[in-house]
Parts: sequence; C-alpha cells; structure tokens
Amino acid sequence: MLKEKIYKQFKAKFEGEPIMVKSPGRINLIGEHTDYNDGFVLPAAIDKYIYLAINKSKDNSCNVFSCDFNKSVTFPINQNQKSEKHWANYLIGVINEISKRGKKLSGFNLVFGGNIPIGAGLSSSAALETGLVFALNKIFNLGFNSLELIKISQDAENNFVGVNCGIMDQFAAIMGKKNHFVKLDCRSLEFEYFPFKTDNYQLLLCNSNVKHSLVDSEYNDRRLECEKGVKILSKYLNNITKLRDVSSEELENYKADFPISTYEKCSYVIEENSRLIEVCKHLNNKNLSYVGKLMYETHEGLKNKYKVSCSELDFLVDFTRQYDEIPGSRMMGGGFGGCTINLIKKDFMNDFIQLISKAYKEKFNIEAEFYNINIVDGTRIIET
Ligand code: GLA
Repeated sequence: MLKEKIYKQFKAKFEGEPIMVKSPGRINLIGEHTDYNDGFVLPAAIDKYIYLAINKSKDNSCNVFSCDFNKSVTFPINQNQKSEKHWANYLIGVINEISKRGKKLSGFNLVFGGNIPIGAGLSSSAALETGLVFALNKIFNLGFNSLELIKISQDAENNFVGVNCGIMDQFAAIMGKKNHFVKLDCRSLEFEYFPFKTDNYQLLLCNSNVKHSLVDSEYNDRRLECEKGVKILSKYLNNITKLRDVSSEELENYKADFPISTYEKCSYVIEENSRLIEVCKHLNNKNLSYVGKLMYETHEGLKNKYKVSCSELDFLVDFTRQYDEIPGSRMMGGGFGGCTINLIKKDFMNDFIQLISKAYKEKFNIEAEFYNINIVDGTRIIET
C-alpha cells in the first residue's frame, strides 16, 4: 500500500519516527469559477490522496524526497527563492506563509507521494499544501485553526507559486467530510454540509488526459474579465465589489456598456451561483435528474460563455447525453483539460467505461482514465 511505501522510504532515508498525514484531492459538483467572485462552491474531498511522512530535522535544513518524481531537494527553512523543481515551490510557499504569520519553524525531513493524478484538475497541489501545513502545525505546535491552515495554503499558491486561485481547493481538502458535499459561501466563509448518499448512483470521473497549455494565464485572464465587469457596473450600482453582488437583471440593464466577451463571462458566473443554490435544494430530496440537468447547463456555460472547455472535454460530456442512466455530466475545475464529473447508475458504470473509452480513443487517439471515487474526510493524521 502507498502509505506503507511512503513510511518505508522515510525510514530508509531519515532517522527517527515520522508522523504521517494523508491529504485528499477534491471534486466539485457545481459552482465553477465562482470562488474568486465571492460566490458559492460545492466541493467534496475524495479517496485519492497525498501521504506525507515527516519529522523535525536536527538543524534548519528541510530535506525532502518526492516518491512520485523520485527526486530529492534540500533547502534552508528561511529559503525565499523559488526552486527549479516546481513541486518544491508548493512546500517553500507554505513555509514562507507560516513565517509571515510570525511563527518560528526549524528544519524537517519529509517523504511524500500519492495517487492523485497530476494535472487532472483534482487539486493535487492543494492536497500537498494543506498536507504540509497540517503536519507542520502538528510537529511544531503552531496552534493554527482550520481556517488559518486553509488561508496559508491558498496564500502559498497565490503569492509564491503565482497562481491566483480561489479558496475552494484548499477548503475542500481540509474541511471535507465523508459522504458529504460542502456548500461554501466564499465571501463569508460560512459553510454547510449536504449528505450525498445514493443507493443506485455513483460519481465517476473521466480524465481526458489532456492539459492544454496556458492554463494558468487563461485562468488569471478570466479573473481579470470578471473584475472588468464589476468595474463597468460600479459606475451605476453602489457597493458592488464582486460579481456576487450583481443580479442577472442588473447585468441585463447595463449590457450595452459591455464588450460581448466580458458580458458573457459575467453572465455565466451569475447564472452559476443560482444553479448551485438550486442544486443544494434538490440534493436533499435526491432529485438527481434535476441536479444532472443543471450540471449539463453548467457545462454549456463553461463552454460557450466562460470559454474554458476544449474539444476533448466536450466530447466526453456529449457522449453521455444518449444515456438515461447518466443524469448529468460536465467538465470540472479550471478547464482546458482534466476531468469530467458524471452522475451515473452504478450498474451501468462498467459498460459505459468500455463504450466511452473506445469512442474517445477512436476520436482523439488518447486513452481516457476513469476514477470511481468516494467522498471522504479532509486532511488527517494517520497511524504509522
Ligand atoms: C481551480 C482553482 C479554484 C477554482 C477552480 C474553478 O481549481 O484552484 O480556486 O477557481 O479552478 O472553479
């Protein structure tokens, strides 16, 4: 098992006993590109993890081994330059953010690895950030609460790695709860759990196995476009700071002032927040056909208005439309590749995987991958 592998690697490389932390990836049922607009999201932690084995070192050096990359890196605890190894920057970023908050750290030994596919939109980077901050909080007795752990992880990504992401991924990793989605108000940070227990249906992720270039710049670009929309509207409306504050009617009233592409992006975000509220109402009464219909609507919005889909994701979603056993499907996460999330009847899953993988291979000559995931608890210490 992975956990044992990480533990053994640690014992082979370093002295002493480590503590072990497991930190999950995430899905998002609906509410895409809404977090940085102060809107709502509906994520959950999933049973794909990064495992970390860690203890204090004897001095100020941080000695890290990544099992998945089979690479080591060593840096001093006060390092503030970027590493050439991209994955190490998530760690250095976290350490920097802890120091900014006035806490003292010394060096550590760390071995980590996992099974969250990288670049698939399942937030392996957030799992690494939250896993490290959670572990350091423990071994150095830093006294951070959950929200502080989340913010440190998000700030590491924003300020050090340089991706201007919202709060969803880090929040889901820390606050995930078994068999529940969590509805997060990204403005007030109030949250509410919604049970997801269905006898006949399952969540299936289809990994397109593509990651188109420019993802980060396109992401930052969408944020700017949303801010531009707010700026236009604030000429007419008082007290608006984010698209969260704007209704569809208000947007329509001032449409003439908008470049079409800015209008479409804003329109998508406002509609997406309303869809999420609707989904939460219907999750309770298990009206999955309605939930699924809204998932398809989200996909259309992401494709036609927000323009973050791609032909591979569109194909994977469109292929599902012919099956009554699949009430809903959509691209998930930032876009331009990664996974689709599908609601599917359990007894149709194996047949479906065969059908869609064959069709996808024929069309794009790419092997898709499939993850039949379960919803789990957030970042935790585990027994060694
Ligand atoms: C990425 C970001 C999140 C969120 C999604 C889109 O996963 O890290 O903060 O904005 O994209 O919903």
